[in-house]
Amino acid sequence: MIEIAATIPENQRQRAGEIYYEAFRRKLQPLVGKPAETQQTLAMGFNLDMAIGALADGELRGLAGLHSAAGIFSRVRMSDCWKQLGPLRGLYAWAVLNLFGAGAKCPPGHLRIAAIAVDEKARGQGLGSRLLETVFDKARREGFKAVRLEVVDTNPRAKKLYENLGFGVVETHAYPITSGWLGFSKEYVMVKTL
Ligand SMILES: CC(C)(COP(=O)(O)OP(=O)(O)OC[C@H]1O[C@@H](n2cnc3c(N)ncnc32)[C@H](O)[C@@H]1OP(=O)(O)O)[C@@H](O)C(=O)NCCC(=O)NCCS
Repeated sequence: MIEIAATIPENQRQRAGEIYYEAFRRKLQPLVGKPAETQQTLAMGFNLDMAIGALADGELRGLAGLHSAAGIFSRVRMSDCWKQLGPLRGLYAWAVLNLFGAGAKCPPGHLRIAAIAVDEKARGQGLGSRLLETVFDKARREGFKAVRLEVVDTNPRAKKLYENLGFGVVETHAYPITSGWLGFSKEYVMVKTL
């Protein structure tokens, strides 16, 4: 039985790091390696109050990390990256996680989904849709006029899911030089008006 929680409990911080890492492994693993240390670094930077969690028997199975004027779900510190991963890998991980993620815009009146990820074993069972619907409800309750997120061109299934739930592309950013090492060359900004 899945319970959707308004925040992620502190005792699930590590699990949140694992789920987030697994979902974004392709962007991180080739140049950073060190999965356990990267998960730890990610987990240390999470603001768990800025997330919605899907839990089964108290264990985290999925999360939606949020960004608004109130704060951001994931802000990885350079010092933690350096300590856990060393200078070069640490700098790369910090750049990937902060420049693409935390660097994204969140205009007034918009609630941004900074990250959405479901445990690999639990995908395709409706958890992602339930997390998104819960974000829409929260956004409406709190007076936001739109929800936004970004998705890369090599994730067409996720893009289709967002389109089915009412998101449309409002901007496209090209990253031609990253396709070889990050695995994508375009990022779509998608918005759902509430
Ligand atoms: C995208 C994601 C959050 C969706 O969560 P989910 O629980 O699998 O979603 P749901 O079960 O509610 O909906 C499934 C739909 O999502 C799509 N989907 C996208 N990626 C999928 C995946 N890896 N496995 C299964 N379904 C996926 C499917 O097209 C499916 O649509 P369908 O039911 O019409 O076939 C989840 O698949 C995931 O964590 N993927 C890896 C991380 C990621 O890509 N995050 C999004 C970055 S923008």
